[in-house]
Amino acid sequence: MYQLNFNVGEFLQHYWQKKPVVIKQAFKDFSDPITAEELAGLACEEEIASRVIVTEDNQWQIISGPIEDYSPYGEQNWQLLVQAVNHWFPDSIPLVEAFRFIPDWRFDDLMVSYATPGGGVGPHIDNYDVFLLQGSGSRHWKVGDIGEYRARNGDSHTALIDDFEPMLEVVLEQGDMLYIPPGYPHCAKTLTTALSYSIGFRAPSQQELFSSLADHLIDQNSGLTRFTSTSEPETPSLISDEHQSDLKAMLCQLLESQDTMQPILGQLLSQNRFELDVCPPEQSYTIAELREALEQGARLCRCGGLKIIELENDPLNRLFIDGQTFQLPPHLSQQRRVLSENINLSRQQTNLLLEEPEIATLIIELINTGYLYLSE
Ligand code: SIN
Ligand code: CO
Repeated sequence: MYQLNFNVGEFLQHYWQKKPVVIKQAFKDFSDPITAEELAGLACEEEIASRVIVTEDNQWQIISGPIEDYSPYGEQNWQLLVQAVNHWFPDSIPLVEAFRFIPDWRFDDLMVSYATPGGGVGPHIDNYDVFLLQGSGSRHWKVGDIGEYRARNGDSHTALIDDFEPMLEVVLEQGDMLYIPPGYPHCAKTLTTALSYSIGFRAPSQQELFSSLADHLIDQNSGLTRFTSTSEPETPSLISDEHQSDLKAMLCQLLESQDTMQPILGQLLSQNRFELDVCPPEQSYTIAELREALEQGARLCRCGGLKIIELENDPLNRLFIDGQTFQLPPHLSQQRRVLSENINLSRQQTNLLLEEPEIATLIIELINTGYLYLSE
């Protein structure tokens, strides 16, 4: 169990999305959910995003994973970073669950890093909110104020920026946490060999939302209403004010339509940026087989990182799961909530859910696609 040791209400009111803050002992008696060896094991896998960053004379060299051999890097000045560890390493999921005071749709991934003394990724700015939690070891962090910063060496392809004036400096030790909203420059230097956890939250951009809207309209062959006018300007080369506002109104009409926007939001925001470890069973389950497995003590679990999302005031009673839509009858709203809210279902919860045939069919479909699985 990972239990937060700070006042969430105060954090949300004063810091979340506003300003960086250090929370000493954010978790009391924090223990690492993964070992350095286990992390290195994940970094060997082709489908898991990993990289090593070597620090040398204020330069940062990136070696993309998979990583099998660490002998070239020596004892210091390098760091291994593995993304979406919560997708591949179930023991790390309880740590992520502690951050569910922020809605699931905003969560991006758990990145875990192993850093040797002197290791770090260099000064940079993220577009994401991040909680930097220190596991074993200690690291010295610097955070600068929001502002205009130049890309390091004029190279805008890397996130690195020039050195910055720190407004906050802290040494994080086991259980300490630093929260940084988007836009604040930061960097760490490792003091003693460290395992660190970056719990990242995403925020969709206008570009991402509009591109989802466009994809949805094309898929559905909808949004085909065309502009019409009742009056024309006297100057032929002019797009009149009236025509400009009528054209914009066509867009606003789409954006204001719940029928159009709700499925777009549900689908977009239930998807993950990183691959999920979806493993369909070798043989499809029937409901009877599922009941039998549960009788024998199996538990129903959600595949790591899978998002099961509901929309408030959804007239169609949908669940959005990894970008797919599942519609349920209105009288099952409570069961819908049990599925969306619980990462692991107790035996009692599962039995109650299976009493409803529509839910039982959905659960079987989710097991047979690998989104849910049975664990001993
Ligand atoms: C690090 O652990 O040094 C990188 C994490 C981050 O800055 O987001
Ligand atoms: Co960062």
